Amino acid sequence: MPVSQTREIAAASRLHNVRYAIRDLACVADEVIKQGHKVLPLNVGDPLSFDFKTPPHIIEAVHKAMRDGKNGYAPSDGIPEALEAIRGEAARKGITTVRDVFVTSGVSETVDLCLSALVNPDEDLLTPSPDYPLYSAVLCKLGIRLNAYDLNEEDAWQPELADIERKITPHTRGIVLINPNNPTGSLCTRQMLEQIAELARRHNLIVFADEIYDKLILDDTAHLAFAAVAPDVPCVTFGGMSKNYLVPGWRIGWGIVSGDAAAVKAYCEGVHRLLRARLCANHPEQYAIKPALEGPQDHLVEVKRKLRSRRDLTQKWCESTPRVSCVAPRGAFYAYPKIDIPESDEVFVKELIRQKHVMVVHGSGFGQKPGTKHFRIVFLPDEQTLTKAYVGIADFIRERYGNE
Ligand SMILES: Cc1ncc(COP(=O)(O)O)c(C=O)c1O
Repeated sequence: MPVSQTREIAAASRLHNVRYAIRDLACVADEVIKQGHKVLPLNVGDPLSFDFKTPPHIIEAVHKAMRDGKNGYAPSDGIPEALEAIRGEAARKGITTVRDVFVTSGVSETVDLCLSALVNPDEDLLTPSPDYPLYSAVLCKLGIRLNAYDLNEEDAWQPELADIERKITPHTRGIVLINPNNPTGSLCTRQMLEQIAELARRHNLIVFADEIYDKLILDDTAHLAFAAVAPDVPCVTFGGMSKNYLVPGWRIGWGIVSGDAAAVKAYCEGVHRLLRARLCANHPEQYAIKPALEGPQDHLVEVKRKLRSRRDLTQKWCESTPRVSCVAPRGAFYAYPKIDIPESDEVFVKELIRQKHVMVVHGSGFGQKPGTKHFRIVFLPDEQTLTKAYVGIADFIRERYGNE
């Protein structure tokens, strides 16, 4: 007689705190879509959902690689020509002490591998608050206690040094720095990078510098790579193709290890064990890395022109809307306005979807100082869509809370 399984298969309890607010909101949007409404999506950081196009020469490079039979497994750390191109990119970023480079399936996998290769169960890693939620998700998966440091809204979202210092314990192994930042769109100053380097030296920490948006700087300033400012400090710089080269679906990212050679040796060996264990990153897509990094960068001029105009429109709206204020974003395509309302930002966001069909993400999905409320805007949509969405949000605020 067949035996049927009756007991529930429970998910591991360490996953209880794994949240990805950006995608979790999709359930609310689905309700609204089922009622026949169109939702204005100011929530997902995928340029390809809007009027941005992948540069054709990198599509051709992948197409050619597939036709040429590059469809088997690749070397675990990446194909040689991609590794060489990433080393060239590191040099252009001013990173002079490169010890290792490797290719991954998106920066998401770089984050997973680099965190997994570092922290033991009784140790911790400093992550920013607000942060990109993957960091806390990976740490939860590893069973690591979260140790978040504040970004200071009053200081243009710079990391709050005193808070970092307060939170460093003998068990702290490293600091995550997201620059340009998701969700705030802020950039770290040179002085801040230098001060963080000093803390890392003093406490023997590695720095994970997530610089996935480094070519999307909207002000007239150059991006400063942490590893260029602190060549001696153990660091892994995270970079990738998703945002700068408009191919998030290809899943191509990389890590650049720099710093004192002896200090990073054992750690690199650990990373390579994990790289080998998962076989390799996507193979044909790796053939786009060299043409992307070394070929024409024309698309960036157009991308930044559009983003500047959309950032300015967003900022103007924030400045002119009661109950809303915002530190002007300087990079990437995110704004993180503060909102003065008597209920939680999660309720705000869910009701906004239901009533005005505009989708943004609540600040509590990224982390924020207790008592403060925010929402994240992705300003990738065109001006017409943004304007329509901002009219909807302003109406919603006025109708629900009044303008006082
Ligand atoms: C700060 C940050 N890091 C990493 C990622 C993941 O990027 P990838 O598509 O390369 O996995 C994102 C994606 O939005 C991000 O915003």
